[in-house]
Amino acid sequence: MTDFIRIEKQEQGIVILTISRPDALNALNVEVLKELRKALEKLAHDREVRVIVLRGDGDKAFVAGADIREMQSMNRGQATDFSRLGHSVCLMLENMPKVTIAAVHGYALGGGTELALACDFIMASEKAQFGLPEVSLGVIPGFGGTIRLARAIGTAKAKEILFSGHRFKADEAQSLGLIRQTFPHQEFFNEVLLFAKKISANSLHAIVSAKKLMNEFEETVGTHLKVDAEAHQFGSLFESHDQKEGMNAFVEKRAAKFAGL
Ligand code: CAA
Repeated sequence: MTDFIRIEKQEQGIVILTISRPDALNALNVEVLKELRKALEKLAHDREVRVIVLRGDGDKAFVAGADIREMQSMNRGQATDFSRLGHSVCLMLENMPKVTIAAVHGYALGGGTELALACDFIMASEKAQFGLPEVSLGVIPGFGGTIRLARAIGTAKAKEILFSGHRFKADEAQSLGLIRQTFPHQEFFNEVLLFAKKISANSLHAIVSAKKLMNEFEETVGTHLKVDAEAHQFGSLFESHDQKEGMNAFVEKRAAKFAGL
């Protein structure tokens, strides 16, 4: 238990890991990401843990993205480091020697979709909403979204979503193949726990060796190289007019006027 992260152990080696910053819709700032990384490091070494369910606190959001207020004044170097920090959390999730389930009951935007994409499964309630709206802020996804969304649903569809900033609900996520099934909101979390229990009854040793092979097949090594390119690209946009205008506009609650530079 830290300021922003709650760890609750359940029966059968299931852990509920909650990101708790509901006033900002669980937006990821440096502090939250560092706490999350620390919690994952701890759980990775805990032999009792088999399945990790990642969720967001409050009624509205899984995670509404990286913290725009914190990013607003970042320079190129700070933004590159911020992206690297987000990548380190997502890579850790992707390679966890446990099974990871993102339980999405509300907004999962920007860094929220990126965090979910780094988990083994995304389960969603009918109220879930996904999207990578970064271009509406003058930047790009900085936590692996350019790579993992394309890997999950194909480059053409990923480009359409990314370039348009399209927000989509659980039923569309299901037809895109991003999630397996959509659940009624009331029954959702119970269904997540039932699925977690089903998995935890099997051999974690065998599951983890399958996961390792499947991740390697999906070019995890390539991902390591590409994420560094994404971090540089993300950072470089913090020298642009459009990043400043996009993020100022969000904070000032107005529409952005982009100049294209
Ligand atoms: N960063 C910082 N604060 C955020 C936030 C974010 N990503 N998302 C929401 N908040 C804050 C709001 O500013 C607001 O705070 P105040 O009450 O102090 O004004 C509070 O959370 C509640 O949000 P809203 O009043 O906006 O709630 P809403 O129901 O009207 O709208 C929403 C919900 C559609 C999710 C809207 O909050 C929104 O569009 N949020 C931003 C989503 C976004 O663009 N995410 C991508 C961020 S960039 C990124 O993630 C980059 C990366 O890859 C590294």
